[in-house]
Amino acid sequence: MTLSELKNQAFIRSLPKAELHLHIEGTLEPEMVFDLAQKHGIQLPYVDVDALRRAYSFSNLQSFLDIYYQGVQVLRDSDDFFQLTHAYLQRAHTDGVVHVEMFFDPQSHMERGVSLSIVFDGIIRALESAKHKYGMTHRLIPCFLRHLSAEAAMQTLEALLPYRDHICAVGLDSSENGHPPSKFSRVFDRARSENFLTVAHAGEEGPPFYIREALDYLKVSRIDHGVGCEVDDTLCERLVQERMPLTVCPVSNVKLAVFKSMEEHNLKRLLRRGLCVTVNSDDPAYFGAYIADNYLAVQQALELSREDMISLASNSIEASFLGEADKFYWLGKLTACAYE
Ligand code: HPA
Ligand code: ZN
Repeated sequence: MTLSELKNQAFIRSLPKAELHLHIEGTLEPEMVFDLAQKHGIQLPYVDVDALRRAYSFSNLQSFLDIYYQGVQVLRDSDDFFQLTHAYLQRAHTDGVVHVEMFFDPQSHMERGVSLSIVFDGIIRALESAKHKYGMTHRLIPCFLRHLSAEAAMQTLEALLPYRDHICAVGLDSSENGHPPSKFSRVFDRARSENFLTVAHAGEEGPPFYIREALDYLKVSRIDHGVGCEVDDTLCERLVQERMPLTVCPVSNVKLAVFKSMEEHNLKRLLRRGLCVTVNSDDPAYFGAYIADNYLAVQQALELSREDMISLASNSIEASFLGEADKFYWLGKLTACAYE
């Protein structure tokens, strides 16, 4: 790395930021997969860590999801979830993350006989520890797997209700094409009636009308990814008007071939059009880039200024589910960064 890149990296890390699109299961590094497989006596179809890392090469969303769902099989007890979450939070702290809104996939654990109490116990212990150690705040967002049925999602929502005090919003992830947001209208109606906020992946690989459906049927507070909005001018105008945040994951988009290269990514164009764009890591262990790496990658490839970096971090605070006082505090710190 050159001296100027090192300086940029330090600047990016110094910006207080919120990570709003992070699947905790996507932070499972190959080393941890092997450690946990050994702990539980699980035979892996890879000879070593390098072989597993070499398998992290994807042609689209589905090719990634196949490996991602295979990886979660090693998560069995609450200490596994603690270790996973703890490692991510430590790393996020060094990247300047002051607040995280974390996704997890309850169905990918429950279908293996791993109970919600195990999952919540491990994740929450780690989140509480990061709050204590770093002052890092958090929200938890369980997601429904959209390749499964709406009935399965409804059962999952009901199973989540005893944990409602730990849940801020519900989300929608997994294979997008063929599974429009409208499929989950009733589940999301129920979730909102239980006072949960809602978010949904839309416009990652799927068409712009999936983004409209997420807004109109699921009444989301944010669109996860959303980069597919660009081809629809009326939709873009609506997103600007409603100041609807997009949780963009640039390195993920390039690794899953949503864009051919980072130079072709539309983040800068969306930002210039006035959209509330944020930068996030999605599944950093699988895509080889945590949040600061994502900021750096877009800054370099799209020639973004330091002011743009501050705008992206400010958008992340604004788009978060933090209360007004916390938002005011962090936005004040970010304004000060502009004058340093
Ligand atoms: N898209 C859909 N589902 C996912 C993703 C994603 O980027 N990451 C983990 N599950
Ligand atoms: Zn995602």
